[in-house]
Amino acid sequence: MFKKMVWIVSMAAIVFLGFSTVEKQFASASGEKLIDENFDQGTMPENWNVIQGNAEVTDSKLLLTSPNISNPSRVLIPMPKGTGDYVFEADMTFKSAVNDARWASLMYRVQNEDYPYYQFAVRRGTSALNGLEFAIRTESNSWNVPEKTFYPEDFQYGDTHRLKVIVKDNRVQHFVNGQLVIDTDLADTWYEGDLGFQVSGATVEFDNVLVKTRTEDLPPMEDNNAFLPDEPETNMLNAPTVISSYIPNEISQLEGVSSTLLPAELNESGDISVGDQLLTDLLDEIRGKFIPVIKVEDVNAVPGVIDVLDSASINDAHVLSSNLDIIREIKEAHPTVRGTVLYEKNHLNKHDLQKLVEDANLTNSMTVALPEKLITTDTVHFFHARAIAVWGIGDDIHSLIHNGVDGIVTSSPSSTVNAFSQYPEKTLVQRPIVVAHRGVPSLAPENTMAGYNLAYDLGADLIETDIQQTKDGHLIIMHDSTVNRTTNGTGKVSDLTLNEIRQLDAGIIFGPDFEGEKVPTFKEFLDGFKKKDVVLLVELKADNIEEAVLQEIKDAGIEDKVVLQSFSVEHVKKFREIAPEMSVGYLYSSSVAATPEARVEDAQQMMNYATAIGARLNSSHRSLSEESVTYLRQRGMISMHWTFRSQPPLEDLLKKGLIGPITDYTQWLTDAPTIIETPIKKRNLKVGKSATIKAKTFVNYRADKKKNIETTLFTEGNLNVVDVNKNTITALSPGQADVFAIHTFDMIGEEWNLVSKPIRVNVSR
Ligand code: G3P
Ligand code: CA
Repeated sequence: MFKKMVWIVSMAAIVFLGFSTVEKQFASASGEKLIDENFDQGTMPENWNVIQGNAEVTDSKLLLTSPNISNPSRVLIPMPKGTGDYVFEADMTFKSAVNDARWASLMYRVQNEDYPYYQFAVRRGTSALNGLEFAIRTESNSWNVPEKTFYPEDFQYGDTHRLKVIVKDNRVQHFVNGQLVIDTDLADTWYEGDLGFQVSGATVEFDNVLVKTRTEDLPPMEDNNAFLPDEPETNMLNAPTVISSYIPNEISQLEGVSSTLLPAELNESGDISVGDQLLTDLLDEIRGKFIPVIKVEDVNAVPGVIDVLDSASINDAHVLSSNLDIIREIKEAHPTVRGTVLYEKNHLNKHDLQKLVEDANLTNSMTVALPEKLITTDTVHFFHARAIAVWGIGDDIHSLIHNGVDGIVTSSPSSTVNAFSQYPEKTLVQRPIVVAHRGVPSLAPENTMAGYNLAYDLGADLIETDIQQTKDGHLIIMHDSTVNRTTNGTGKVSDLTLNEIRQLDAGIIFGPDFEGEKVPTFKEFLDGFKKKDVVLLVELKADNIEEAVLQEIKDAGIEDKVVLQSFSVEHVKKFREIAPEMSVGYLYSSSVAATPEARVEDAQQMMNYATAIGARLNSSHRSLSEESVTYLRQRGMISMHWTFRSQPPLEDLLKKGLIGPITDYTQWLTDAPTIIETPIKKRNLKVGKSATIKAKTFVNYRADKKKNIETTLFTEGNLNVVDVNKNTITALSPGQADVFAIHTFDMIGEEWNLVSKPIRVNVSR
């Protein structure tokens, strides 16, 4: 699946080049042979030293064994003085490892026959985010890891991979099986030194060691193209991103647009064109300014589009199609290209909605695109609760904004940008998707039916839960691996039978009002909500229960109302394999980089990782920055973030555009109004006349009630046409004005605005 790609990390970001491009680049790179060792003589080569731990030559291979993380094994290969630019390669095979995080490395430019040095480290679990590293053993004998990335699959025990390091001056490239995986210019402290092998907490074989001097310069660092396109000026807090379907001759003149829709076709000369331009040329032109959204409907164009993406080395791109096979095929060749499923029918019933969620997931896509006439606030809510982003296609911009879409595909980007400028400050245009974390642990015992029912009654959009397995193989709900913290019992869940766990009281520790609450079974939880309008966010807390969890979800018949998530990438991958039609989240936390550029690069790396494994980035809220929230929004990812237990970070991130808070305090958010509507859409007024307009606001989507609440009117930029005072519009002079009904409400101690679709006021004499 990944064979067409080359993975390059450049300053913590990943870009892609076609395989052939890279091979050609180095075809002429051969220097003096310094070492060519296949261990056939059966002993450690002369001068090679075991400087730490255990290493021996056995079965014509070099074998390093390290029992644990504190006792690495190292072999040093001396280099002639002054040698520092070389190509160092070897076959590497994991025989065993203490755990998936354990690693083996090629060390280079080793100083003082010990440390400091650089190394190319490879973990057994290579698909982890830090599966491959450019690491520095520092002068204080500790680790500094400036570059890390992932390999699409784990290295299996017994499988051999060819590792290669090219180091020339300060430039370094790391390869796995000929694929460039790390590309950096940070080897700028030591310029010569010895080579070596190291293993930490694993048993690893090395063979066919080849070292040659390197005389040619390495090519300049690839630009990793991590960027945030411009957003329109607006007061909206979580405004949709703008995708222009109109391509002007001077494409750089597009303003406030994040992406451009490029309908790609196979032309008569066999090239891929967009209108009368070549796709290759357009990609070059928009590189670093706009995200390409390549629309492909003709299956015959697919190989050409794949070739263009290969040679353009662009991985920050979407493919949009109504044909699922087309998305699949392009993503198979380019796993970090994001998919968007285009919906082209004229109607959209409940069945169509669910099918669209499944189609998106089946193609590893996280976004759907729909014509504006099919979009309502309920449609958007349906998708959001299932972690699917919605792009609306059309030019009724206010309507799309009002319905809460994540992106607007418009043929008139300039009027879209103008519409964005009309909104009042602190306007929330997307209601938060509130995820009740373990129920409502601020009001009721966590992970109990009492807490879950309360979450539902409070109006949570999703209810989050944690699954463990009992000694006798039953799935139950509990966060911890022991019952100690939340029940009156003690012991590991995995050492207790279901019957034993059901005897426990899961409410009494929280308070006497909840005495007698049981630890729920997963089945009880699913059955409790299968007929209710709420989505369940199901997190795995134990290994090897993916199949059982899925079976119970299927038995309850609610695959359409469950989003799965886990901190384990193995669980995530297993779910993508056995439940490819369901949405899956990857839970993680990471630090926030110091500079905006580094934050954008980190966001790119995470987005690429998530796209390749087909998962949402459900990080801790502390891992987020304004840049990462914007990066994800612009690229059509709906993600949910944990765990909001205090108001300041929640307020801060809602203002930065977050829409999926996972919180212990569902009650903070679910009282807020979700939509405001005006009784009229249009009003004609003669100069000098006035009209009073009152809006109605829905307070809770599930309660389905409308409540008359306080609104005022608001207009921006039409002051010569109308005057607006509280609920009254007065016509001043002939023209047109957009007037919004605005409701200011309080949430987490802050004032927010909710606005209606504008009323178009036509003033005549
Ligand atoms: O929903 C994600 C969140 O629950 C992850 O943290 O420890 O509460 O399961 P934890
Ligand atoms: Ca959890």
